[in-house]
Amino acid sequence: MGRGMRKPVVAANWKMNGSLGLCEHFVANLARPDYADVWIFPTALHLGALAESFRDSDISVGVQNVWCEVEGAFTGEISASMVAAAGGQLALVGHSERRSLFGDSDAVVARKFKKITEAGLIPVLCVGETLEERESGLAFEAVQRQLNAVEEAWDNPAYSHVAIAYEPVWAIGTGEAATPDIAQAMQALIRNHVDQNSSGDSQAVRILYGGSVKGVGAAELIAQEDIDGFLVGGASLDVNEFNQICEAVKS
Ligand code: PGA
Repeated sequence: MGRGMRKPVVAANWKMNGSLGLCEHFVANLARPDYADVWIFPTALHLGALAESFRDSDISVGVQNVWCEVEGAFTGEISASMVAAAGGQLALVGHSERRSLFGDSDAVVARKFKKITEAGLIPVLCVGETLEERESGLAFEAVQRQLNAVEEAWDNPAYSHVAIAYEPVWAIGTGEAATPDIAQAMQALIRNHVDQNSSGDSQAVRILYGGSVKGVGAAELIAQEDIDGFLVGGASLDVNEFNQICEAVKS
């Protein structure tokens, strides 16, 4: 069985990078493939400008993080509903940098996830094991724990309007992407988990791979049955490289 109904996704996670100049450069030079969904996650400061520029296009924009309340005394934070009002359509949640640097526990990720769905945004739930977890044979246990935490807080797990990004921590920003076999093996386990824990959404949910994705190597990864696209960090800041990745998912 192939990817079938699942349209590939190429997503750009700019992290704490970018400027209005980079936004304009992307608006002018980004490929606009009709065979893939293109999602851009700039900083929250740049979301409004990009959302406005891409308003009448098929390109969607989102944020890299939200807080898990709607409004209130949470200095420095923004809510999912504010993102929706500003023209955002998506939100990353559970990125490993949030988990490791900013203390987003499984429980906090679950609360944020819930608020993202309630605001009508598409969550991109990031999961992935550390090198230690992989080396001790606990990679899938770690990913499953992250998925379970979200499902426990989610009244009716319906993955068809959700994307999952499998991002092994050891591959993020290292220049060493997971091999197609390693990524495929985990992503098949994730799809199987969704099959067991939701109502028939496992063939609809898009499971992206993230971690040192570049133009070179992207075609081998996307050829895998359970890799439905990419969440791209470093390489997403270079529009030509990003366009190459878009080209690679054309099949
Ligand atoms: P990278 O980052 O492509 O720079 O490895 C991916 C990510 O963190 O989403």
